[in-house]
Amino acid sequence: MKTAKAPRSIFACQECGNQSTKWLGRCPECGNWNTYVEEQVQAKPSSQGARARRVTGAAAHPMPLAEVQFTNANRLRLGMRELNQVLGGGIVPGSLVLVGGDPGIGKSTLLLQLASEVAATFGSVLYVSGEESVQQLKLRAQRLGIPGDRLLVMAENDLDAIIEQLEKSRPMMAVVDSIQTVFLSGVTSAPGSVSQVRESAGRLMLLAKSSHIPIFLAGHVNKEGAIAGPRVLEHIVDTVLYLEGERHHSFRILRSQKNRFGSTDEIGVFEMRDSGMHEVSDPSRAFLQDRPAAAFGQWHRPESPAHAGRDPRAPGAHSTR
Ligand SMILES: Nc1ncnc2c1ncn2[C@@H]1O[C@H](COP(=O)(O)OP(=O)(O)OP(=O)(O)O)[C@@H](O)[C@H]1O
Ligand SMILES: [Mg+2]
Ligand SMILES: [Zn+2]
Repeated sequence: MKTAKAPRSIFACQECGNQSTKWLGRCPECGNWNTYVEEQVQAKPSSQGARARRVTGAAAHPMPLAEVQFTNANRLRLGMRELNQVLGGGIVPGSLVLVGGDPGIGKSTLLLQLASEVAATFGSVLYVSGEESVQQLKLRAQRLGIPGDRLLVMAENDLDAIIEQLEKSRPMMAVVDSIQTVFLSGVTSAPGSVSQVRESAGRLMLLAKSSHIPIFLAGHVNKEGAIAGPRVLEHIVDTVLYLEGERHHSFRILRSQKNRFGSTDEIGVFEMRDSGMHEVSDPSRAFLQDRPAAAFGQWHRPESPAHAGRDPRAPGAHSTR
């Protein structure tokens, strides 16, 4: 009698996703040190294709491009103008958008505000948190003044359960916070590993495309290497936005690293306050007024010369990767 195939072991760079059959001290792909972690990979009985069919229901068939219906009018236009711009003019139905950033930078805050706006304007939104309880979400919502009538919240890590819920409730939009805390039970490696993060994002991509539900993912940037960073997902998702800023300053920049539906030239500037992220529509004036160089540093800042000249957008100024 044949025994089940033992899971294969591979080593994956948690920074860029490069894989190797043996452990490497330095990643030949991205050059980072000590980023290789052993992961168990189950021999894949259900191929990607089989899964795709399960999600989409039927096999795709070719159709004349001329008959494909899509206009910019399909986008969900947002009142949050900075965010709307960075997305290329609104949320594209069926798009998978990654919002990456350092721990504590404000990803959940921004995503909850976005979810609230879409819920108020367009219809129900499902916000799934893999790292916070619904009570914690409520606490944040209260602080941000979010009523949340059509905003459904769920604390769940099991991606199969999340997908089932999305297929059942068919919201106008969904948020998965964060991609590193959800898992597929069919993938044996731990939540947050390259294999889990990739497979999970792949499944959500299929769901987004087949259901036309736009899905936003929060993704932690981290340097320790135990959690797969957003870079692993950059080629899978449609749009990659990074939320950046300096820890002790209130300004935040949202920049687009990749966008299949718009240019990557736009940046959004926000100020993080108790009451949430507030758009700064005239950044230079805001910074010059009472917080000289608070976030950007290229303006003279007499009280702290050590910070002068630091630009948060410059490579290495803070950890985007
Ligand atoms: N009661 C509060 N009043 C004001 N600001 C707060 C309060 N609680 C949290 N914050 C701010 O919100 C930030 C956390 O925001 P948020 O949870 O949206 O970040 P995140 O990027 O989702 O973090 P994580 O990586 O933990 O998921 C804190 O770093 C802090 O600056
Ligand atoms: Mg968060
Ligand atoms: Zn690497």
